[in-house]
Amino acid sequence: MLKTQAYINGKWTNAESGKQFSVLNPATKKEIAQVSDCDEKEIQQAIESAHNAFKTWKNTSAGERANLLRKWFDLMIQHKDELGNILALEAGKPLQEAIGEVVYGASFIEWFAEEARRAYGDIIPGHQANKRIQVIRQPIGVTVAITPWNFPNAMITRKVGAALAAGCTMIVKPSEETPLSALAMAELAEKAGFPSGVLQFVTTSNAKLFGEIVTASSIVKKISFTGSTQVGKWLMEKSAGTLKKLSLELGGNAPFIVFDDADLEAATDGALASKFRNNGQTCVCANRIFVQEGIYDAFVKRFTEKVKAQKVGNPFDQGVSIGPLINYKAVQKVSRLITDATDKGASVICGGTLIQGEGHFFEPTVITKVNATMEIAHEEIFGPIAPIFSFKTAEEVIEKANDTSAGLAAYIYASNYKTIYQVSEALEYGMVGVNTGMISTTVAPFGGVKESGFGREGSKYGMDEYQVMKYICLEV
Ligand code: SIN
Repeated sequence: MLKTQAYINGKWTNAESGKQFSVLNPATKKEIAQVSDCDEKEIQQAIESAHNAFKTWKNTSAGERANLLRKWFDLMIQHKDELGNILALEAGKPLQEAIGEVVYGASFIEWFAEEARRAYGDIIPGHQANKRIQVIRQPIGVTVAITPWNFPNAMITRKVGAALAAGCTMIVKPSEETPLSALAMAELAEKAGFPSGVLQFVTTSNAKLFGEIVTASSIVKKISFTGSTQVGKWLMEKSAGTLKKLSLELGGNAPFIVFDDADLEAATDGALASKFRNNGQTCVCANRIFVQEGIYDAFVKRFTEKVKAQKVGNPFDQGVSIGPLINYKAVQKVSRLITDATDKGASVICGGTLIQGEGHFFEPTVITKVNATMEIAHEEIFGPIAPIFSFKTAEEVIEKANDTSAGLAAYIYASNYKTIYQVSEALEYGMVGVNTGMISTTVAPFGGVKESGFGREGSKYGMDEYQVMKYICLEV
């Protein structure tokens, strides 16, 4: 299933220029494959093909679309081990976690296969006796997904599932770090039998060129992007010329708040799961852990014991729960944040250094004596550092938690229901986990507020992003 060509208009395609780019294994820094490096010609060709395919795809019945999506889902589950292997190889995710992502990713295809049949409209009582008013939902048209390396499978499926179910066609540009998972999924989509041009995968190392072409195109009606806030803003600016609809799932700075009355075992387990999922490289990872004074020392001690018990290593080795960081740039960022914090008075309780060897391995790190003057309090870490802040009152922690331009995910551990309701409602975030560190699921709306973007993915709301509402007024 190791495909290396782009998938355009139902054909496996090399870049006409003959160019390719390398995909590296972050655990060994060795090359896994060379992949077609598409240029303007292939990108335009994909847009044209998506446009042509839309003419018939939009008129298929919801049942036909549902059946194709269901076939694709079945194939993904059938091949979850192979897909997981490819994902672990290129993204460095421990194998079981990688297979878990494939199952999570496939669940969006299953969900939207079911949702396809439920694109209900409305009948509105007319404003005059002889008027009948009907509201229908129609597919927006040609859509584009620009997806990140941290979830090479699931960030694609939750966009594609919704788009195709709604009757849109979609062009996917996977991250240049992890195109192989995307191409393996393309192979399964081809087997499932989607018509040519309905779903295409354009691989390129030139993300800027791709962004410029799709934002300028009047054929492309919608772009869904998961990635950095900086790139999200750029895409929005570029899309203004054609007033394109956007969904932007951007960076987070998740507070993880533990109150004195929390269950210590549950809170430390939750913090571990949230902080170290994919080695800290998710937008919803705990970024700032706030612990109330009365439980602070006990929390730091128990959490540190659990962090030290994690096995860092090659994603394919038994018992490994933390793999490498994606690349050297990620290692540099983590090192910079630790140096800045310790220079300003923070203490490293465990970890703190690069593990010498073949890959981009970094020790899982716990730091205390952190404060708001440090870069770590404001930047999305995207790596295995857990900074633990202390606080006295609910009012104080709400203010600190909201003191950021990001607003994706937040977490609270407490047992008092008044605290739980008051704090979860006061947090300026799109998603709040209460007494759980894991909130991602197909059935709930995933997305943020403030500079974490807009639009919701998954859930019964996910298809709205790919539909336009039309009102028909009929005189009888
Ligand atoms: C992310 O966008 O990094 C998190 C994705 C998820 O949890 O579904």
